Amino acid sequence: MGDRQPEIKPASICTGASAARRSISGDTVAMNAITYQGLQVLYTRQQIAERVAEMGAEITRDLNGEKLVMVGVLKGAALFLADLARAIQADATFDFVATSSYGHGLSNSGAVKLIKDLDQPIEGKNVLVVEDILDTGITLAYLRKLFAQQRPKTLRIATLLDKPSRRIENIKPDYVGYSIPNLFAVGYGMDYAERYRNLPDICLMTPDHPE
Ligand code: IMP
Ligand code: MG
Repeated sequence: MGDRQPEIKPASICTGASAARRSISGDTVAMNAITYQGLQVLYTRQQIAERVAEMGAEITRDLNGEKLVMVGVLKGAALFLADLARAIQADATFDFVATSSYGHGLSNSGAVKLIKDLDQPIEGKNVLVVEDILDTGITLAYLRKLFAQQRPKTLRIATLLDKPSRRIENIKPDYVGYSIPNLFAVGYGMDYAERYRNLPDICLMTPDHPE
């Protein structure tokens, strides 16, 4: 199972661009020397596709031929779930939940409210909660407790991005796409005030970016 924390590595795969080193909030990450709608690209669509394929293969192995219920956390995880589902070779169904979000800012309010519950019971099922980004862990701690009450057979977490340095709740995801420093990511489902979800690459929202 995936306690693997891949390094952030430069991506010149599709663009041919050389990686640039940028220092943001004291954390140094290697990023693509390309921008998308004025935003710096952190992971290209090709890098995402490769990593999602690896995660799908790992999840498939761990399932050992059993069925799976994928539970996406709306809205951010919708694109990741769509791609991850196609990388998993198993008899899988989807469900979605929605929680209260960050609103319009960059920081967490601390409170979680369930806006949309599961459609189907998960008792005795292999459940994979699919998240776009794990930050403080407050959302997943709330969901994990809620889902555990239904006694699933297994309850695992897959997150595309993980910001371990921001953790408040004790949440350790089973599958992590990329572990990143304290940056604000947008694109590939992730938003800033509901914008940028449809960017095909994962980009970086910088505090000085014009809105
Ligand atoms: P948590 O409850 O603090 O772990 O936050 C989880 C949710 O906050 C994620 O599912 C995202 O929807 C949102 N979030 C946290 N960090 C970011 C980010 O860098 N970009 C976009 N959304 C984020
Ligand atoms: Mg989310």
